[in-house]
Amino acid sequence: MAKLKSVFFCKNCGAESSKWIGKCPSCGEWNTYTEQVITKTSKQNQVLYESEKQFPQKISEVKSKKEGRISTNIGELDRILGGGLVPGSMILIGGEPGIGKSTLALQVALKLQHLKVLYISGEESPQQIKMRAERLSLQNDNCFILSETLLENIFTQTLNVNPDLLIIDSIQTLYSDKIESSAGTVTQVRESAASLLKFAKEKNVPVFLIGHITKDGNLAGPKVLEHIVDTVLQFEGDHNHMYRILRTTKNRFGSTSELGIFEMGEKGLREVTNPSEILITQSDDNLSGTAIASTINGARPLLIEIQALASSAAYGTPQRSSTGFDNRRLGMLLAVLEKRAGFRLAQKDVFLNIAGGIKVDDPAIDLAVIASVLSSNLDLPIDKDVCFAGEVGLTGEIRPVARVDQRISEANKLGFKKIYISKYNSKGLDQSKYKIEIVKVSRVEELFRSLFKKN
Ligand code: TYD
Ligand code: MG
Repeated sequence: MAKLKSVFFCKNCGAESSKWIGKCPSCGEWNTYTEQVITKTSKQNQVLYESEKQFPQKISEVKSKKEGRISTNIGELDRILGGGLVPGSMILIGGEPGIGKSTLALQVALKLQHLKVLYISGEESPQQIKMRAERLSLQNDNCFILSETLLENIFTQTLNVNPDLLIIDSIQTLYSDKIESSAGTVTQVRESAASLLKFAKEKNVPVFLIGHITKDGNLAGPKVLEHIVDTVLQFEGDHNHMYRILRTTKNRFGSTSELGIFEMGEKGLREVTNPSEILITQSDDNLSGTAIASTINGARPLLIEIQALASSAAYGTPQRSSTGFDNRRLGMLLAVLEKRAGFRLAQKDVFLNIAGGIKVDDPAIDLAVIASVLSSNLDLPIDKDVCFAGEVGLTGEIRPVARVDQRISEANKLGFKKIYISKYNSKGLDQSKYKIEIVKVSRVEELFRSLFKKN
């Protein structure tokens, strides 16, 4: 007879406790513990995926696997994965509902013509998946689909098909009948992911897991999911925007600051290979309040447009609000402008927006933020062919930024005529290499004079 046992799990981080606790000692959140009844069965039944027995072996005798990475045939995805899929790795794709996770996964499945892919959906029927595939106008004889949520069946079928890539849509829909709690609970998600990981490592098959995200932007289910997998990709983007951004937040096999940009169209997701062009408003008018920053995300330089609006405050307390940029940093930059350059912004509402719905945390965009705020405040436009790369310090000095030559080259390539950088960044820079004019500034006041006092 199975023994019933009650345990408590933190909904936020997955920590386990034998009694209810108000504040989680592991993640510090309040009131996150929920009770779950667990059926204690014999040890043998608890194994969800029967793994082969492992014995200790000499490290010198372990055969290293030298096989290369598998290309997904989607360049942007390969790049953010660090050069393709690593065999035996587990990748979690998180994102809000409707952002395009299933579409991306199916596109990967259908584009991998030369490999056998098994796409398991717990959310859609084979007919629905077929309809989506037709919409994507992609065909692949090597792609198998299965609508299933019971983990034991999934393993049976997966071992039958023996795929080169396994896709699970989504991890929250899976459940094992060995565990007595409903699908999507901490225990189920954790155990399912752990046994899928065991499968991935043993069979050397890469596994894509799709995970839902909660309203506050965290991956639903336990944080342990993030610890278990090798790579975490976050799918972001505004529903109103066509653009979707895929960001690596964890990667055991590559850099974590990579960013992939896609456009959602009638036929699924399309890679945007030249993002700078779409992130900058294509208009002929020179409007005040916009400035272009030359940023670097991961390995790639990216030119983005910063839009600012400074207007007289409607209420006693002026508002400062920003989208895609840290609000506190905006407050700091405004204080620097006020104190060091004498701009009276204390009575102004200031709104800041990064065009295209993208989030950037490169300090080099400070200079463009300041330029756009000044431009809006004075209602004087900045020429369209001018861009900026520099960090601003508390004393109003313009600080050097990393990889400035790459930023200049990108701006040069895109036809910009002038780039403002920090004076302290100019070491080793050779102006004659570029067509673009490099303007070196050391202080905020200097930037202001150079931009707006042209007589
Ligand atoms: P979906 O992949 O189902 O999102 P998720 O799995 O993250 O919940 O995304 C579907 C959205 O994308 C839906 O609103 C319809 C839209 N879409 C397109 O615009 N074009 C397409 O070709 C497809 C397949 C979907
Ligand atoms: Mg989906």
